[in-house]
Amino acid sequence: MDTRRRTAIDLGKIAAETGPQAGLRASRMTGGLKGSQILQIATEIRDLRSRGETVCDLTVGDFSPQHFPIPEKLRDGIASAIMRGETNYPPAAGILELRQAVRRFYLRDLGLDYPVESIMITCGARPVIYGTYRAVCDPKDRVLYPVPSWNNHYYVHMVEATGVPIPTSAASRFLPTPEQIIEHLAGARLISLNSPLNPTGTAIEPEALRGICEAVLNENRRRETRGERPVYLLYDHIYWMLSVGETPHVTPSELFEEMARYTIYVDGISKGFAATGVRVGWAVGPVDIVARMRAVLSHAGAWAPRAEQCATTEWLDDVEGIAAYQSEFKKAISARLNKVYEGLMAMKGRGCPVDAIPPMGAIYLTVRIAPFGRRTEGGAVLDDSEAVRSYLLEEARIGIVPFAAFGVSGDDGWFRFSVGATSLEEIEDALPRLEKALLALS
Ligand SMILES: Cc1ncc(COP(=O)(O)O)c(C=O)c1O
Repeated sequence: MDTRRRTAIDLGKIAAETGPQAGLRASRMTGGLKGSQILQIATEIRDLRSRGETVCDLTVGDFSPQHFPIPEKLRDGIASAIMRGETNYPPAAGILELRQAVRRFYLRDLGLDYPVESIMITCGARPVIYGTYRAVCDPKDRVLYPVPSWNNHYYVHMVEATGVPIPTSAASRFLPTPEQIIEHLAGARLISLNSPLNPTGTAIEPEALRGICEAVLNENRRRETRGERPVYLLYDHIYWMLSVGETPHVTPSELFEEMARYTIYVDGISKGFAATGVRVGWAVGPVDIVARMRAVLSHAGAWAPRAEQCATTEWLDDVEGIAAYQSEFKKAISARLNKVYEGLMAMKGRGCPVDAIPPMGAIYLTVRIAPFGRRTEGGAVLDDSEAVRSYLLEEARIGIVPFAAFGVSGDDGWFRFSVGATSLEEIEDALPRLEKALLALS
């Protein structure tokens, strides 16, 4: 090694210099990628907190490790895997032991017996979504996705597909109906579904999923006879372990075995074990499509770190540990969701312009706050969701996200409340502030 000291070259200024053609330096595609609205709201919350204000942050789709630590066995397993030297490249599809553990996990808990070749480990669940879009879509291919939903418009943009957003409503708890999918199915390449759904926390009814799967199978049988490429179903069930309530979590492959030819599951440990920062996800899907995804994602280096894979392997086989962890975890999440829901229903009963859909899963509650046309004490008229969000952050110090951040156009006053980063006490303190701020409107 050359031990001579180099003179430091200060590149701070030149590296930040864009020159006169700033807009032409990067690709057109990246120029069109919009920033996340949720991150902008998070910045406002940080500013308020830095001024010493107490804010109940219901914006982030994450867990606070203080309230929701990862399972101890997983934590200790990562540390000991690093200590014993599990630090080199893992295979592109993930370590075989973890793929086999995912296989056992799906068999045990979902009743789905996939071959190990159907399973690929990734760095959290996002690469599975990106890899699926890349593996099945060509530019201009049509992708159907319900709105509100999480980030589909970004993936559509990145692969230069044609997005077909399908507006949903409270009547179907913001999940698409078979009729809505069938209307747009001809010529579609991909349908992107998520249940339990981010941002609503609602789950698809088995009958609705059955109708959608039937339509996919009929369409693909027709296409096969005509020698055309099939339509695929991206089934993002990253929150399935957090299902609550009466609607059971269902999968396309359990409804129709043949759906295993067309369904790619998005999953991982991020939500079910509060391990968003550990970055272990997986795809389960048709062997040929998963192989294409592996080819794409290996070039992006989107594998999960080896030590985390080793620890996840041991964790997924710990049937009793998982049951014990999840029972506590779900209880704590449900307590928060129910507290918000019941608080809002009581406010509704007292004449506040609020409504909500009972929680069904994930860490989200769907809430309607529609004081449109009313005036704040300062005289400003609240005429859209953004004005309501901003008012409630300032006046009630509650951070929430309007459905516009999830692709909804038009203003119907629906918001996502996310409870993964708050305590019950913070919620108890915040609800009276919310009511006070709403009652102060004229
Ligand atoms: C619906 C949905 N799918 C996928 C993901 C991505 O999960 P990960 O953090 O494992 O990449 C998220 C994260 O918020 C999500 O809400």
